[in-house]
Amino acid sequence: MSDETVLEVNDLFKSYFPSIGEIIVLKKINFKIKAGEFVCIVGPSGSGKSTLLNILGTLDRPTTGKIFINDIDVFTLNDHNLAFLRNKKIGFIFQSYHLINRASVLKNIEIPCIISGEGKKERLNRAFKIMKMLGINDKSDYKPHYLSGGQQQRVAIARALMTNPSIVLADEPTGNLDTKTGNEVFDLLKMLSSQYNTTIIMVTHNHDLAIKADRIIYLKDGEIEKEEYLKKYNI
Ligand SMILES: Nc1ncnc2c1ncn2[C@@H]1O[C@H](COP(=O)(O)OP(=O)(O)OP(=O)(O)O)[C@@H](O)[C@H]1O
Ligand SMILES: [Mg+2]
Repeated sequence: MSDETVLEVNDLFKSYFPSIGEIIVLKKINFKIKAGEFVCIVGPSGSGKSTLLNILGTLDRPTTGKIFINDIDVFTLNDHNLAFLRNKKIGFIFQSYHLINRASVLKNIEIPCIISGEGKKERLNRAFKIMKMLGINDKSDYKPHYLSGGQQQRVAIARALMTNPSIVLADEPTGNLDTKTGNEVFDLLKMLSSQYNTTIIMVTHNHDLAIKADRIIYLKDGEIEKEEYLKKYNI
């Protein structure tokens, strides 16, 4: 972890306006996250974790408040520049992998770099390097649904890493996995933060995993109830 702030959230509110009246889902959220920090967001179902993660990833907009990514006030960007920033800086991992089943593992992993227009040779080199790092290099020609859950999640992690993002956002990435496989996926994310200085923000219901992060942010009813800085935070 370095001292550089990679992500800053300022007075973030999010409400929805269904016919029955305004529902405030996130209330006055403020925090800063350092480059290479591993943060877990925990909280009861419906507390706003996924909503927050989607806004951090610029997939959704706040009602009021600002998000700075590397000091860029992201919601002042136009759609084109915002999509460019998202593709370059942010990787996403979801509970249910979100892979394309009719495409090969390799094709799934290449997608972010096809979108960003990277040349074929460079992106294939990078894909094989990342697959090797994650232990799935022998699976490149498989269709994802022939792989185990843990292997599919590694493919999703590989895809998230293809653009060399500074921030990886993971919404319950171990939620569909058994304990052992979930621990392995978690350890891979830890390795990314400690060895590659990738910032990881992970939503989880698993307290045994959360306590291995650098910090836990507890959400309750859309507010930060408390933050817990774990022992290694200042090391
Ligand atoms: N498009 C929407 N319109 C109205 N309300 C919404 C919308 N999306 C989410 N909500 C509400 O926002 C609240 C927070 O939802 P969110 O999905 O962020 O919770 P969560 O903490 O991720 O829950 P879980 O642990 O079950 O995944 C819920 O009450 C949900 O019903
Ligand atoms: Mg959720």
